[in-house]
Amino acid sequence: MSQRNLELIAGNACPALADDIARELNVTRTAARVGRFPDGEIDVYIDSNIRGADVFLVQSTCPPVNDNLMELLILIDASRRASAARITAVIPYFGYARKDRKDEGRVPITAKLVANMLTKAGADRVLTIDLHAAQIQGFFDVPVDHLYAAPVLVRHFLEQRIPDLTVVAPDVGSSKMARGYAGRLGGELAIVDKRRISADKVEIGAVIGEVKDRNVLLIDDMISTAGSITEAARTCIAGGALSVRIAASHGVLCGPARERLRDAPVEEIVLTDTIPIDTTGLPKLAVLSTASLLAEAVMRVHTEQSLSVLFNRAP
Ligand code: R5P
Repeated sequence: MSQRNLELIAGNACPALADDIARELNVTRTAARVGRFPDGEIDVYIDSNIRGADVFLVQSTCPPVNDNLMELLILIDASRRASAARITAVIPYFGYARKDRKDEGRVPITAKLVANMLTKAGADRVLTIDLHAAQIQGFFDVPVDHLYAAPVLVRHFLEQRIPDLTVVAPDVGSSKMARGYAGRLGGELAIVDKRRISADKVEIGAVIGEVKDRNVLLIDDMISTAGSITEAARTCIAGGALSVRIAASHGVLCGPARERLRDAPVEEIVLTDTIPIDTTGLPKLAVLSTASLLAEAVMRVHTEQSLSVLFNRAP
């Protein structure tokens, strides 16, 4: 057992999830004031002594992305200057991840920039769930523990015992993830041929694989404007699917997402709480908790135990 105190501190991005993690860990969240100066600058004050402590800062970099990212950087800075022994940035949803390579001239690689900013500010480790691309781990020169929401989502769908199941990836990028779910849920695999036209518009081509007379589960790492997954749902229905469920690890839900989800021809929408979700007006939406997964990871990091068990655990 670590000799250092475990201190769990949260910014304003996902305080309810931080409270749930604290409850699972049976610790009290360390009070910190994360406010604003009159001009909008962020002001942070950690209420208790964290000198020599093992500090875990819980903050998703979800919308408002820039505010939440800046809060996290300033919390890291405050913790470092308060002489924390080790600082782990617990980022259940890691934003700015979609730009992870230069696929045309004169564009940034924001995932690398954010990784640089976090480590430069003083993060010693990062703990996150379902990065948009697994290779983003390598953008950090500090250890990254990359968890999967799969155990939480798979458990939910196993309980439903869905017959004639086909797990469908809404684009080629999600096909590896979908294959993993198909294996764990005992279903077939299909892939939608998606082409992105603009930030909130997609064009859907053929479905590669069989969806006729199948119950479909569409799975993605995130739902942002919900264009990809709702268009894929319509394509599956048009292709003769008996039913469609949709699920994703992260519900960014920006722009027209809520209307698109409300109008989608689906039985159920399942997200996790890595980003706070307002379920109002979305009766088919279920939000599953990642708190116990994150709490166990925090405790394993704190006590220097392996985390592999969390990746391989059967749901
Ligand atoms: C794409 O690579 C991602 O996996 C998601 O499919 C995408 O970010 C979802 O975006 P939207 O909901 O805006 O279609």
